[in-house]
Amino acid sequence: MTARRTILGGMLGLALAGSTSGFALAQEAVKVGLILPMTGPFASTGRQIDAAVKLFLAKEGAVHGGRKIEVILKDDTGNADTTRRLAQELVVNDKVAVLAGFGLTPLAMATAPIATQAKVPQIVMAAATASITEASPYIARTSFTLPQASEPMADWAWANGIKKVFTVVTDYGPGIDAETSFANKFKTAGGTVESVRVPLRNPDFAPFLQRVSEAKPDALFVFVPSGVGAQFMKQFVERGLDKAGVKLIGPGDVVDDDILEGIGEVAQGAITTHHYSAAHDSPANKAFVEAFQKANPGMRPNFMAVGGYDGMALIAKALEATKGDTSGDKLIAAMKGAGWESVRGPIKIDPDTRDIIQNIYVRKTQKVGSELHNVEFATIKDVKDPVKARK
Ligand code: DHB
Repeated sequence: MTARRTILGGMLGLALAGSTSGFALAQEAVKVGLILPMTGPFASTGRQIDAAVKLFLAKEGAVHGGRKIEVILKDDTGNADTTRRLAQELVVNDKVAVLAGFGLTPLAMATAPIATQAKVPQIVMAAATASITEASPYIARTSFTLPQASEPMADWAWANGIKKVFTVVTDYGPGIDAETSFANKFKTAGGTVESVRVPLRNPDFAPFLQRVSEAKPDALFVFVPSGVGAQFMKQFVERGLDKAGVKLIGPGDVVDDDILEGIGEVAQGAITTHHYSAAHDSPANKAFVEAFQKANPGMRPNFMAVGGYDGMALIAKALEATKGDTSGDKLIAAMKGAGWESVRGPIKIDPDTRDIIQNIYVRKTQKVGSELHNVEFATIKDVKDPVKARK
């Protein structure tokens, strides 16, 4: 029995060795482990990215650099311990060439040591705390950073007569990044800022909004993660802040396209700065939104979908550059400096930081026909993550 097992094992070994050469190599799929919150409070991020990844493969094909991309989707429910375990299993058991997804900062951070140890590229399609790309030399990002989106908001607010701002942010990496980058820039310009932070899990905004109501600022700067904006806006109205003349400003996460129609009229007039709006006026984006909505009836692509779509494009471009070689070092080297015309506008992976360089748009939430949209009216071109740019 033992001898037989050894022989079988030997044959299996030969078969595997044979499959890594020449023609057989071309047939072997390149596995991408896609880890997303498909259930739980952040499922909208998972749904958006999953849909975008499928759309990329349908539109651009699965074969790149002569290799077929096979996506293995795993649900981490938004729990970092689960993300870490899934990443480990994907690397050790499934032998994935790339890890991708990461709907929240703690989930991306939990995976970084695994990417480093295994030398497997980790493509961050959603999470947006500035420091994430510094957690592993194998991380590249196709989403954005909160300072990248929030500093232009400070410039716009000061230039438009806003002097006193209250900030309300979710109390973890991206919220703290949004608050500090906005406040530093706005105070340097001459403005005053008061700040509160709200828990990530089961947030109740009412007591914080009460303080805002008493402080009577010119504007309320808000960061909440994608999908949470509807709950925030409901309490904003319940506290009467919409009637009190407090202008809503911030990075675009609070008026995310996934939930904007659900938020309704109260969002009208919000001014936000972000890297993507489904209303972005270009032929490429119109075609993207149309194809996305055809494949996913009733759903509008948001900035998470675009991070997922471009994340797949980055993996495909790297495979094309290495001619199908899946060595992690070669793939990440090919990703550095890669640039193309995304549906959000021109983008490039910064070769020094592996973060994304992109336009930030100033937008106003308003009706377009019968639908609510974030309509872009100004562009700040080729913005780098300012935190790393200052280092
Ligand atoms: C993060 C999550 C979000 O949903 C978002 O809109 C921005 C940042 C994050 O956890 O990094």
